[in-house]
Amino acid sequence: MKLFVLKEKDINEKVANEIVSLVNEKPSCVLGLATGSTPLGVYKALIQKYANNEVSFKNVHTYNLDEYVGLSLNDKQSYHYYMKKVLFDHIDIDLNNTHVPNGVDVDKSLKGYDEEIKNAGGIDLQILGIGSNGHIAFNEPGTSFSSLTHIVNLNKSTIEDNSRFFTSIDEVPKQAITMGISSIMNAKKIILIALGEHKAEAIKRLFQDSIREDFPASILKTHPNVEIYCDALAAKYLKQEVK
Ligand code: GLP
Repeated sequence: MKLFVLKEKDINEKVANEIVSLVNEKPSCVLGLATGSTPLGVYKALIQKYANNEVSFKNVHTYNLDEYVGLSLNDKQSYHYYMKKVLFDHIDIDLNNTHVPNGVDVDKSLKGYDEEIKNAGGIDLQILGIGSNGHIAFNEPGTSFSSLTHIVNLNKSTIEDNSRFFTSIDEVPKQAITMGISSIMNAKKIILIALGEHKAEAIKRLFQDSIREDFPASILKTHPNVEIYCDALAAKYLKQEVK
């Protein structure tokens, strides 16, 4: 894993530039996209670069990591809605080329999502955040490293973390559909971003813990092409030699 400790705005710029370079080199590339607050700055930077005519997303294919079970595609808390609002509505991507697991017709996504990604040529670049408990996508601690797209019961800590996006904690769905750990590890390149002090413990464990299923992000150490971008707060427990 290659670590970069940078200011948040430089992280957004650098990651957006990596995406733009990839798209310009391979216009029909496959991007793996994440939701949550972490990638918002990168999406903003991508919209700006599109507006500046630096890139076209016309032929790009995207696959999102996860979705809440039970939320309709138009529900304002759904990741379908999030993606349209924060990225897809502002660039020239063909919506038919964008894919988010279906939280209503769950069976469809369970059967076909990994197969579809494979048929599209596999994910060239996967963007990831990290949960405070080390989850990646919605793969909670204890998830099998060989998992493909599946349904999960969300941990109490994840429900609490994500309740900030809902009016009350009771509204947070208790289940989600998520790409599995193996689905994520199949990506050719992975970029994980962590911002803020509340991610510092997870980032420390990512570098210091052994590779184990009760800390899902630890599997990234076995992937040949991973970049970790942290701001100073998220990297605060990392020893100088790692930085
Ligand atoms: C959420 C999402 C993850 C995300 C993570 C961190 O539960 N399922 O894909 O990376 O938790 O979220 P945030 O970026 O809001 O801190």
